[in-house]
Amino acid sequence: MDLYDKDVVSIKDFSKEDIEGILDLSEQMIPYAKGEKIDRTLDGKILGNLFFEPSTRTKLSFESAAYRLGCDVIDVSEMSMTSMAKGETLSDTIRIVNAYCDAIVLRHPSEGAARLAANCSVKPVINAGDGAGSHPTQTLLDLFTMRQAKGTLDGLRITLVGDLKYGRTVHSLADALTMFGVKLTLVAPEGLQMPQDTIAHLREKGCTPTVETNLENVISNTDILYVTRIQKERFPDVSEYQKVAGSYRIDNNLLREADRDLIVMHPLPRVNEIAPEVDSTPHAKYFQQAFNGVPVRMALLHSVMGGEF
Ligand code: NCD
Repeated sequence: MDLYDKDVVSIKDFSKEDIEGILDLSEQMIPYAKGEKIDRTLDGKILGNLFFEPSTRTKLSFESAAYRLGCDVIDVSEMSMTSMAKGETLSDTIRIVNAYCDAIVLRHPSEGAARLAANCSVKPVINAGDGAGSHPTQTLLDLFTMRQAKGTLDGLRITLVGDLKYGRTVHSLADALTMFGVKLTLVAPEGLQMPQDTIAHLREKGCTPTVETNLENVISNTDILYVTRIQKERFPDVSEYQKVAGSYRIDNNLLREADRDLIVMHPLPRVNEIAPEVDSTPHAKYFQQAFNGVPVRMALLHSVMGGEF
């Protein structure tokens, strides 16, 4: 697929070949992402970063990716600092920002916001997380990290653990993994399992996940343990959050049961799902994963905004 001028709203819009193409380009971007080589093919372009929810990695890695390609960035980090606080609609805001930049990256608290924005934007819109919906660019960097560590994605035994209900990263990731014939296990506390419609979609695509509540039962049959934070901000009732907070904690004791080559991933931020003692073990890949946001988002911006490489 030629991504030039296209929206990136859902990972379901991508084929396996499209994904592999982006991962290959991301690989080539690594020396540029580290500043060891210079590429300025987006010189003169402007990226509009609209982040209406907190973000560290996604926002800064998009910015870093843009600057590494010579692209300038304009940004807004709070709805309260825009005319949306005065009652302007998202679609009007998008129409206005269209006039100031060449592509828009949008993070928004409402599921479906990225699709709505894409529908009323003449410039490409990249979904950087829409509520509990999805997070396709995180998925690309997650897949990149998995492939980097394991050499392939095909046939891996992958366990997703934590808040699979509200966690948008695991929604897009599970969708993408159906293309790679993985063995998927879903481990979540009561009430936070993967939504039924996502499970139905996985089955339709030929991936029937194993559903578990006990992580100890599956740790020794896992190549990749993908840990997520309980999404406190999405709970309608804080007392419901308190019932499940701290349900899972990955520490060296648990990892004693794991394969030597098991890798632990996390989109971050972590709260207390992964003990700091894990950081210095060869299992820990989450900081590498966070860095990978830069080459992967460089590959995306390059493809969407039209850089020559
Ligand atoms: C995630 C998100 O915002 O969905 N963070 C990220 O983009 N790296 C995960 C989270 O907030 O738990």
